[in-house]
Amino acid sequence: MTHPPDLSSACRRLLRVGGPLREVHPAHAETTVLLYSGPDAGTASHIAASWPGFEPFTRHELYRSGTYRCEIVLDDTAPYSASRKAPLRFHSDMALVQEPPQISSIRCLVPDEGPPGSATNIFIHVADIVQRLRDSDRQDILRMLSADRPVQLMDGTVVVAPMLANPLGSAPLRIFDRVGWQMAGYERALLEELLNLCDEWFDLQVRVRLDAQDAAIFSNWHFLHSRSTCASTTRVTEISLGFLRQR
Ligand SMILES: [Fe+2]
Repeated sequence: MTHPPDLSSACRRLLRVGGPLREVHPAHAETTVLLYSGPDAGTASHIAASWPGFEPFTRHELYRSGTYRCEIVLDDTAPYSASRKAPLRFHSDMALVQEPPQISSIRCLVPDEGPPGSATNIFIHVADIVQRLRDSDRQDILRMLSADRPVQLMDGTVVVAPMLANPLGSAPLRIFDRVGWQMAGYERALLEELLNLCDEWFDLQVRVRLDAQDAAIFSNWHFLHSRSTCASTTRVTEISLGFLRQR
């Protein structure tokens, strides 16, 4: 598995920026979590206005309008785990569609009412994960991540793909913790172990608690993300996804 050698110093950055997105070179989106503030920050139109070629992701019922409004609910059996107060485990967005989006934006409308630490968004760059796994000689997890395997998509079709593209960023991440993968029991246990390790690797994490009008924009092909427990049901976020098409 290969990745550009210059990723390591950049990939844990949280870059706070304002104004138009074009002030940030699009290539930085591969290595940096961009934090914007402002009334339109992180909306699909905000991204589209600044990144020519941005195409909103609409190929899922939640995203027909281009934006999914995510409200936290009391009932922990809500069909979409992002709506639950419980921690959201590390994943890549829309891992089980034909073409998972390249860019994700989490835009906060109403923050969680809880104490510091609640409802924190957490990001880890996959290049850091790979390096940490190599350093700790976890070839078993690396093999599990890079093996081609059948994936049953939400629409019922099956694609053959690895969880982690080689080289990194050349294809979508497909890391999701629950369904879709046709994998042996020992491999599922390795995936569980990896997700737990990501929770423990604080030094690799970019952590941010979004205030109202804050948006975190990041590459969904390069970062896994998670969210800590919500202490209340006040939090409302809007999620926008999309692609950066060549023009
Ligand atoms: Fe997500």
